[in-house]
Amino acid sequence: MNPIDEAVHRSDVLVCVGSGGVGKTTVAATIALRAAIEGKTSLVCTIDPARRLANALGLDLLGNTEQRITTALLEQTGQPAQGELYAMMLDMKRTWDELIERNAPPDKRDKILNNRFYQALSTALAGSQEYIAIEKLWELRTQRNYPLVVLDTPPTAHALDFLDAPNRILDFLDNEAAKWLLTPALAAGKVGLKLFNLGSSYVAKTISRFTGTETLQELASFMLALSGLNEAFRERAHQTRALLEAQTTSFVLVTGPMAERLDEAIYFHTVLQQHHLQVAAIVVNRVHPLVPARAWEDASQLPAGLRARVVKTLDEAEANAQADRRSIERLKDACPGTPLVLVPRFERDVHDIASLWQTSAHLFEPQGAGLVKQPGQ
Ligand SMILES: Nc1ncnc2c1ncn2[C@@H]1O[C@H](COP(=O)(O)OP(=O)(O)OP(=O)(O)O)[C@@H](O)[C@H]1O
Ligand SMILES: [Mg+2]
Repeated sequence: MNPIDEAVHRSDVLVCVGSGGVGKTTVAATIALRAAIEGKTSLVCTIDPARRLANALGLDLLGNTEQRITTALLEQTGQPAQGELYAMMLDMKRTWDELIERNAPPDKRDKILNNRFYQALSTALAGSQEYIAIEKLWELRTQRNYPLVVLDTPPTAHALDFLDAPNRILDFLDNEAAKWLLTPALAAGKVGLKLFNLGSSYVAKTISRFTGTETLQELASFMLALSGLNEAFRERAHQTRALLEAQTTSFVLVTGPMAERLDEAIYFHTVLQQHHLQVAAIVVNRVHPLVPARAWEDASQLPAGLRARVVKTLDEAEANAQADRRSIERLKDACPGTPLVLVPRFERDVHDIASLWQTSAHLFEPQGAGLVKQPGQ
């Protein structure tokens, strides 16, 4: 059985991870669509999809809530839908606010929500986006009953941010500097430059964007308000960790065939395994297809001048395809035991239901798809 298909059958959570721009959102939407068409009602929780994909999924006007994709839209696949498809676009700020609203004591709620540091934390702190994506996943898993939730993850410069996120947030709340900030000296405004000697911690990075005693007092009051939430955050971090490690949760690692992306994917694969997380497959997206034999035959029939140009183009395409093949071999060697699934580079972006469906033919192709074929080959 195809590894993605198998993962869809055995999992209730699928998480698409990988470096920025490799196709995580596309793969997440494709998997959820295919699962829904084949009878497993699914929710794709996506993050900042390309505008046209958002439009295609009916997400252009939506906030932080799930929306059912209409039957008319699903019919664009040309298939009868046996299950339902839902989609939502994760709103980072809104999810943070909901988290605070749920966990903060009523008297502290507004203090936190209106605090400038909270606003910076909820939108800019490294790891914050990843944390909130997992938080949303937890909420969807525990408060809804979708047979399958496919989680897209945010574009991260560093793939590891995703796994470290809950710890980072806890570190932020637990930080020695934060405790020090709560001292009365600070509240009275007697703060020296010492604060800025915090090294490269996340707290320091966030704080360094602000200056002035008034600001520090604001930070102190934020920390004070948040300190009571530590336990709630800690508890939740344990629960989300358990959810990610569950037998019914699978990861799909998305990458591209070029060298930089490949190194990141190999590294990320190692880290996922070290964390005992199940990697269902590595999707190598945008693979250059091999040039079909008949293209060379056709070229040979052309007049000399034109033939030379066409042959040059075919040579280049073949060289790209061969380079990708070598990359894929390297990836196979570096990640033994994890199946690879190849998706070709399409001429056009994947931005509507029909093209998602087309993509699914590759993602769900029966195993043994070692080489990417040309369309129609
Ligand atoms: N196989 C493919 N062939 C051609 N275009 C593709 C392919 N896969 C994805 N794309 C296009 O590449 C762009 C980036 O894809 P996508 O948004 O899925 O990446 P991402 O990993 O989610 O990016 P980010 O990290 O920024 O969230 C999109 O415009 C998408 O339509
Ligand atoms: Mg994306």
